[in-house]
Amino acid sequence: MRQDSLGHVRVAIDGPSGAGKSTVAKRVANAISADYIDTGAMYRAIALKLIREGVEPASDGDDRLAALLAATVVDFSGGRAMLDGVDVTADIRSADVTLTASRCSALPSVREKLVELQRAMGRAKSVVMDGRDIGTNVFPDAEYKFFLTASAEERAKRRYAEITARGDKADYGEVLRSIEKRDYDDSHRALNPLARADDAVLVDTDGIGIEEVTEKILSYMV
Ligand code: DC
Repeated sequence: MRQDSLGHVRVAIDGPSGAGKSTVAKRVANAISADYIDTGAMYRAIALKLIREGVEPASDGDDRLAALLAATVVDFSGGRAMLDGVDVTADIRSADVTLTASRCSALPSVREKLVELQRAMGRAKSVVMDGRDIGTNVFPDAEYKFFLTASAEERAKRRYAEITARGDKADYGEVLRSIEKRDYDDSHRALNPLARADDAVLVDTDGIGIEEVTEKILSYMV
């Protein structure tokens, strides 16, 4: 397997929401004994703090936002999302946080803080990182890069099944519309939009199981 000069491997797994990135990334990390880092969870943790403190995510350059970011500690270790030392893994999955995370991920000051943290993680250990800009921006020189896709319909079906499986109500049309809106917002923001790096391997997960996708990715990592 390829390694950087410190003996670490950095695997970038990017793609739109619902393409199965986190499940696959976790399995790949396990298989190669690297740490799994969910960068979306880091944006979500900041969003949760903004909501709790009542700070609007539309106000970059705002003193309150700068003060809040300076006083916020975000981490993702041992598979848990940590905000100021508290495990917020469950709290960051609400619809409210999802919406705010998408908005705050467009703010330069938020991205700057999290990208710096993510790069530091990659310097300290081997990582499998999932997100939107890992292969294009966080680690342009990652040892391995993958871009996972699936049609919006397939991703909406998966999300719908996930929500109803935990006993919650959902409307398929609404789930699909919200996925399409997030795709649009994530790929049209000015700063580090969702995009496939030229040298990333494209993996279409439509109709393919998690097991098969994981195997496919691992087959490149020799
Ligand atoms: O993958 P997710 O749904 O948990 O991500 C939450 C939000 O954060 C999503 O709107 C996209 C954004 N994000 C980003 O801009 N860059 C990343 N590397 C990861 C997530």
